[in-house]
Amino acid sequence: MTLTIGVDIGGTKVAAGVVDPQGRILDKVKYPTPADSTAIADVVCDAVEELLVRHTGAAISGVGCGTAGFVHEDRATVMFAPNLAWRDEPLQKRVRQRIDLPVVIENDANAAAWAEARFGAGRGAAHVVCVTLGTGIGSGVVADGALFRGRHGIAGEIGHYRMVPDGRRCGCGNHGCWEQYASGRALVAEAQDLATADPIYGARLLDLAEGDTARIQGAEITLAAQEGDPAALECFRIVGEWVGLGLADLAAILDPECFVIGGGVSEAGDILLEPARASFTRHVTGRAVRSLADVRTAELGPEAGIVGAGDLARR
Ligand code: BGC
Ligand code: NA
Ligand code: ZN
Repeated sequence: MTLTIGVDIGGTKVAAGVVDPQGRILDKVKYPTPADSTAIADVVCDAVEELLVRHTGAAISGVGCGTAGFVHEDRATVMFAPNLAWRDEPLQKRVRQRIDLPVVIENDANAAAWAEARFGAGRGAAHVVCVTLGTGIGSGVVADGALFRGRHGIAGEIGHYRMVPDGRRCGCGNHGCWEQYASGRALVAEAQDLATADPIYGARLLDLAEGDTARIQGAEITLAAQEGDPAALECFRIVGEWVGLGLADLAAILDPECFVIGGGVSEAGDILLEPARASFTRHVTGRAVRSLADVRTAELGPEAGIVGAGDLARR
C-alpha cells in the first residue's frame, strides 16, 4: 500500500497527515502558520519531516500541499493569493530543497473538493461543486469525475465572482466579489456591525466577546446562533441569502448534481444551509422545471484539505 502526505496550509495552522488510498488519515501533525509568509515553506517541511521520521520505512510516494491562492498549472508555484503576501511563490521548489519526494502544490479548495467528491459528501456523484466558506470563499469543480482546472490551473476561483458591481473592496483588488458577502469574514463583519449599531439586540454576541465588538469571531456567532440568539441567527440568514444567490449562478453555469458546503462557516450546519437552500431555490433559473441540485454539508470537516492534497499527490 502506498501512502502519501497531504498538507493543508491555512491562515492559522499548517496541518499535515499521512493519507492512505482510501482517503483515511493515519497520522497527523499541526504547526501554527508563521506570520512571515517567507517562513511558511519551512514549516511545511518541518511537518512533513516529522511525519517521515515517524513513518520511516513506510512506502510514502509523494507530498501534496493545498494552499489558498491561484496555483499555476505547473502545480509548483502560487501566482498570487488574495489573503496572503505571496507573489509567484515557488513553493514546490522550496519544499523540494528539504524533502526528497515528488511534491505537488494544489489550491486548498480544489484539494478539499476532491476529497469531498471522492470520499465525502459528494461520493458517487460525477458532477460536484464544493464551496469552502472560510476567511475567503474557495471552490473546486469536479466535472465528469475529474477536477476541472481550466487552461492555467486557476479555474474555480468563485470567491471572486463579482456579485455586486462597485460593491465592497476585495483582497484581490476588485470590488463586489462573492467572498465579501458570504465568507466567514463577511459573517463576522455583519455581526460586528450589528453589535455596534444595536448593542441591546447584539447583547449576547457582545457578551460572548467580553464586550469587545472586535473580538466577535465566527465561533461566537455560531454558538450564539445555536442557542437561538436572534441577532446571530439574523447574521446567518444574511450570509445564507448570499450563499444561495451564488449557488444559483453556479447551477446556471455548471448544473452540478450536488453542492457540498464546507469551511468554518458550514460548521453551523442547517443554521446556514436552510437560508442558503431557500435563497438558492428562489433564485435559480428554470426552478419550475429543473431538478434542483442538492445542497449538502461537507462530511470530512477541517481534514478535507489534507485528504484531498494527499490523494491528488497520487495523480
Ligand atoms: C482564494 C482562493 C482560495 C479561497 C479559500 C480565496 O480568496 O482566491 O484561492 O481557495 O480564498 O482559501
Ligand atoms: Na479552487
Ligand atoms: Zn475578489
